[in-house]
Amino acid sequence: MTTDPLVVFTPSGKRGHFPVGTPVLTAARQLGVDLDSVCGGRGICSKCQITPSYGEFPKHGVTVSEDALSDWNAVEQRYDDKRGLKPGRRLGCQATVQGNVVIDVPPESQVHRQVVRKAATARAITMDPATRLYFVVVEEPDMHSPTGDLERLERALREQWNIDAITADLSLMSKLQPVLRKGKWEVTVAVHKGHKDTVARITEIWPGLHESGLYGLAIDLGSTTIAAHLTDLETGEVNASSGLMNPQIRFGEDLMSRVSYAMMNPGGDQEMTKAVREAINDLTTSIADEAGIDADLIVETVFVCNPVMHHLLLGLDPVELGQAPFALATSESVSLRAREMELTRMNPRAQVYILPCIAGHVGADCAAVALSEEPGKSEDLVLVVDVGTNAEILLGNTSRVLACSSPTGPAFEGAQISSGQRAAPGAIERIGIDPVTKEPRFRVIGSELWSDEEGFDQHIATTGITGICGSGIIEAVAEMRIAGLLDESGLIGSAKQTGTPRCVPEGRTHSYLIHDASAEGGPRITVTQGDIRAIQLAKSALYAGARLLMDNMNVDKVDRVVLAGAFGAHISTKHAMVLGMIPDAPLDKVSSAGNAAGTGARIALCNIAARTEIEQVVREITKVETAIEPKFQDHFVAANAIPHKTDPFPELAQIVTLPSPSFNTGGDDERSGRRRRRRS
Ligand code: FES
Repeated sequence: MTTDPLVVFTPSGKRGHFPVGTPVLTAARQLGVDLDSVCGGRGICSKCQITPSYGEFPKHGVTVSEDALSDWNAVEQRYDDKRGLKPGRRLGCQATVQGNVVIDVPPESQVHRQVVRKAATARAITMDPATRLYFVVVEEPDMHSPTGDLERLERALREQWNIDAITADLSLMSKLQPVLRKGKWEVTVAVHKGHKDTVARITEIWPGLHESGLYGLAIDLGSTTIAAHLTDLETGEVNASSGLMNPQIRFGEDLMSRVSYAMMNPGGDQEMTKAVREAINDLTTSIADEAGIDADLIVETVFVCNPVMHHLLLGLDPVELGQAPFALATSESVSLRAREMELTRMNPRAQVYILPCIAGHVGADCAAVALSEEPGKSEDLVLVVDVGTNAEILLGNTSRVLACSSPTGPAFEGAQISSGQRAAPGAIERIGIDPVTKEPRFRVIGSELWSDEEGFDQHIATTGITGICGSGIIEAVAEMRIAGLLDESGLIGSAKQTGTPRCVPEGRTHSYLIHDASAEGGPRITVTQGDIRAIQLAKSALYAGARLLMDNMNVDKVDRVVLAGAFGAHISTKHAMVLGMIPDAPLDKVSSAGNAAGTGARIALCNIAARTEIEQVVREITKVETAIEPKFQDHFVAANAIPHKTDPFPELAQIVTLPSPSFNTGGDDERSGRRRRRRS
């Protein structure tokens, strides 16, 4: 039996006997314990921090004495003086085993640390990015055994980090020689190795130990908005999130109008490609500025997007996506250099990964939702809807997953709404209307106070009240219905019919006035009849898509509903039900998941195994094509009423009493106006 000391690592529970004098880092490596190191045990990166525990550990069957590890050494002292080590911490590469010991590896010292996502139901992300940092000491050149600097760097990576095959672009090679000499032959390299690569690639090199971090962008490229999350590739933390409107809107509000633009205008696809790439370049600069980092430290970018955005981003003509059979140029995932896509504001050798598309109308954004929400791992039947300009809809459980995309239009994102805007400070995001007085109260992004609370005006002094965002418009329409300002068909009543002067005539129809600052030169925020129609179209498309998947699954009910999307984190399930946006499900089984597509992008950015996983999952998903399915239209028409006429939530009656006015009798409503126009 060995007399070598026993080393027990927590939380992994891995244990083994090691000779006296073995560095803790070496013991960890031999046992396969997840202990980080960038400098390879040279005592300069501090990634290998551990906490020894002393005393009796009956659970592990050991007693740990005070001298179980070697004494605090000069390297640790130097590090502590310079940067400070937390009390009780040691450097795993410096402390050696002297006796039985229990060693805790804190989360920040784990290579594959778990990043806990905010939503309670969400899974954690295990850090395993495609690009990592390695510190190496490279042999100096010698006239008697002539080899290139790159070859000696390659050898150092092989010997010190077991990285076998390596390549480097010409642009990297031109930096190599000065950096090696500046670092006195000690350098840090960023090495990228994708999940399908056999050869790794050096993407960046810094003299000495690089300590300014490494970053990636997870980008959800939507038809209306582009949202980016700047993510630390070592910790998985999101350092900044930023978004902007997709400039392609000027070529067409929705996907099909952009495809038509490409069809009708020679070179139109290239114009749209250029516009979106420029926007991503601007977003890269602004998000790096916001986080206070050098944009050159962004070495990876993951995109999720619908098929038309996918093609336009890649510079592929989307015309085939405008007509059956909706053939994609490629449905596989795409890995390429950022420079090939003219993304010039991140690291010049940054790598891009685009998730696979599911079908001609069901894109990489839907794949990202599947990766984030994992319907295929759910025991109960779950309906996941990710609402954007198109709604990505997934229905499934462990036996089968179906997917479709439904053209909701940009109304849910605040576009095509008269006072609509992106979810940004100043936008109304919550609204309530008193059913008796018909007076509104609201909250804007950037303030916790309601508009009728004391201090509201001071609170919003910097942002102002600028418009209504997607979640705000959903609440506004639902609240108008609850307050009797809107009938079941979606018509807004007149002041006389509703009893409030806030219902003002606008042409042949009416609008509801929420906020009027026009006297002070501010905005006049209303919900118009056109806004209601846009929301009705959007919610009917969403409902019809979900219903179509249920038909294909042969079910009339789902066990739970997950609402995701740009406004998913804030959407009120009560208001979604009043609107009739989603099929019937128990009220406590309707939850919000935030931006699931963006989260899927972040998972693929932080974990390369997730890329393999989603590529496999996508092959197994059954696609349902809404555009050619006649029943889609039937469901769409049936879903127009507020709430849904034939499928209202039974629970709805328990939480809210809906009045049943009908404003379709007077001579001044929209439809009778239309009738008059037709007659004349
Ligand atoms: S491994 Fe870098 S300081 Fe220990």
